[in-house]
Amino acid sequence: MTDTQRASIILGITGGVAAYKAAELARLWIKAGYSVQAVMTEAATHFIGTATLQALTGKPVLTDLWGSSGSGMDHIHASRQADLIVVAPASADFMAKLVQGRADDLLSTLCLARDCPLLLAPAMNREMWSNPATQRNVAQLVEDGIGMIGPDSGEQACGETGVGRMSEPQAIFEAVESLLHQGPLSGKKVLITAGPTYEPIDPVRGITNLSSGKMGYALAAAAREAGAKVVLVSGPTALATPAGVERLNVTTADEMFEAVMSAVTDADVFFAVAAVADYRPAEIGAQKMKKSEQPLTLNLLPNKDILASVAAMPKAPFCVGFAAETEKLLEYAEAKRKKKKLPMLVANLAQNTLGADQAELIVLDDDGQHPLPAADKLSQARRIISHLSKLLS
Ligand code: CTP
Repeated sequence: MTDTQRASIILGITGGVAAYKAAELARLWIKAGYSVQAVMTEAATHFIGTATLQALTGKPVLTDLWGSSGSGMDHIHASRQADLIVVAPASADFMAKLVQGRADDLLSTLCLARDCPLLLAPAMNREMWSNPATQRNVAQLVEDGIGMIGPDSGEQACGETGVGRMSEPQAIFEAVESLLHQGPLSGKKVLITAGPTYEPIDPVRGITNLSSGKMGYALAAAAREAGAKVVLVSGPTALATPAGVERLNVTTADEMFEAVMSAVTDADVFFAVAAVADYRPAEIGAQKMKKSEQPLTLNLLPNKDILASVAAMPKAPFCVGFAAETEKLLEYAEAKRKKKKLPMLVANLAQNTLGADQAELIVLDDDGQHPLPAADKLSQARRIISHLSKLLS
């Protein structure tokens, strides 16, 4: 899979009551931007209709080994296009088949012909699960390098309670996320601030700036792609949250400071991309201010510097600052890096970058200057993440 593509997943569904949960799993993957091809066994079609999966994935469901392509090679084509096969639910019978390498329907043939990882989410009655035959099969499948998610313990469709419930779709989704995103930041937590802040003057007016949040959001997406757990503390923006990213919405610089302080404890990296207002009105009018003929003076108080506060923490994460300047770019940016004691800072000319889709950047670190020639913000974010990964290693 390349950086610019989202993964292509085959969702195999075998016969079991938990088949209805496969619909939710398909929905989560589609929402995250993955391409999903549902493949159902004949037994599965007795538990959930193909129309449901077809509507959710936007593709006809494959059920027949003697497929519709006319080539008779659906199993090879489908498995070559997939980055991952997930069978959820995987029945006891299907697992037994896999152990033996049998290929008597499309899904089992596809699993046998695959050249990508295979994950199973077993679902069955607790006695079937604990049966020595099933346990032997599970051990063999694990030895063959097949991944297992679950099963969970709890109340079962048959009314009994025990181990055998299929893992919840969200848990399967997250397991797949970590499998697909084993990048250079895998296992790391990255905290990012993005967007402007808004400092109210009265209920209808405030002080803000032209930051769109695009660079911070692109970094969140790139860090997630690189395998990190990403928390994005965002000022007001109109942007969609990148897939797999946890977003905390804030309005003022004070709220951003509090959100960062509570999320930073176990962070490995902190990107301060937000254009934080340096000042806030000393008083916020309870009602809308009325105009008069007299000049108006606003009393402003300085806001806390979030980045400087994080960088000064005893166990500070690796801190990356951003500097948007309108003149003397390198001189001012390097002065900021030194003042806030940052190992890395990304500098740009504000007039070219604010709100734009493209950015021309320069990374400053202890080794000097590293220009990142003009490109779209997601590409720049990936370059920044790649630079960071080298510094971290
Ligand atoms: N920053 C922050 N908290 C603030 C102000 C800035 O975390 N209260 C962060 C920004 O996210 C950015 C960097 O600090 O990473 C910018 O440095 P700063 O010196 O504060 O920039 P400006 O506010 O633009 O400073 P100046 O107006 O002096 O150029």
